[in-house]
Amino acid sequence: MLTDRFGRTIDYLRVSVTDRCDLRCTYCIPKGFKGFEEPANWLTHDELVRVVAAFARLGTRRFRLTGGEPLLRRGLVGLAGRLSALPGVEDLSLTTNGTQLTRMAHDLRAAGVSRLNLSLDSLQRDCLHTITGSDSLPAIMDGLMAAKQAGFTPIKINMVVMKGVNEAEISPMVAFCIKHGFVLRLIEAMPMGDTGRNAHYMDLQPVLERLRSEFSLRPQAATLGGGPARYWTDANGRFSLGLITPISQHFCATCNRVRLSVDGTLYLCLGQEQQLPLREPLRAGIDDAGLEALIREAVELKPERHEFIEKPGKVVRFMSMTGG
Ligand code: 5AD
Ligand code: SF4
Repeated sequence: MLTDRFGRTIDYLRVSVTDRCDLRCTYCIPKGFKGFEEPANWLTHDELVRVVAAFARLGTRRFRLTGGEPLLRRGLVGLAGRLSALPGVEDLSLTTNGTQLTRMAHDLRAAGVSRLNLSLDSLQRDCLHTITGSDSLPAIMDGLMAAKQAGFTPIKINMVVMKGVNEAEISPMVAFCIKHGFVLRLIEAMPMGDTGRNAHYMDLQPVLERLRSEFSLRPQAATLGGGPARYWTDANGRFSLGLITPISQHFCATCNRVRLSVDGTLYLCLGQEQQLPLREPLRAGIDDAGLEALIREAVELKPERHEFIEKPGKVVRFMSMTGG
């Protein structure tokens, strides 16, 4: 098992397979951004398999494909199939914006991706257009329904809540998720890059109080997925609402994850600079034992916590650069 200096077990790796995206959410990629990673610097499928296999040998059991928008990476289905077949990989999941899911949901499920998170900040076509920079709702809804049909369980909807932007959309989103059996996670915007800092951050604690009475929510004992969300359930126990509150109530003490960016850098925290590059050693022919030693070294660098409140200007990487 990988354990860090603060006694936290690291059993979860998030793997970014691209830093590109077909959307431009206001809190994520800056409009007109041109600084995407060169394809020559993307870890190849073989390199990604090597890194995931090394983590699995070190005891990591849960892996998530992310981005940017992971479905834009060529050959993703084949890659997912190779990763899910690796010894020790017990759980392979995916975070997506959903625009390409209609054509890929079935194949991804068949390739061993079991759980799916979909980013959706509004059910209003105009509002989502404003947030994502394009008229994306029809394609996303289509993709979401394809994912439901393909049998992903659970499907979680990630909604970044922004003051004055989509806060009126929270209750309709709860009702929508109850109707379709989706888990809803409300997320506080993090000050990652200028986009994240200008994201109309909204404290979710008062939102929770309101939703508790509106939908008769009570705390849910079981955690869903082992992440940072705190869950609530409705009267009949069928609906789950998760709150991800990195700012108003941070959860660093139980952080169990590290991130691999598309250029092969291990990032130890979303809100800090500690990192360890794996691409060069991989391309210089490092052997499996050497790779495992580097991963252990990286985990040693994991900081105790983010400093989003104390130093909100610190992180210049926006989300899709590190991997969401
Ligand atoms: N703060 C919070 N969440 C963010 N995401 C992207 N940028 C930010 C940010 N600055 C979210 C997306 C997606 C997930 C991968 O990260 O909405 O759901
Ligand atoms: Fe793309 Fe996700 Fe960033 Fe939106 S939040 S621009 S969907 S990577």
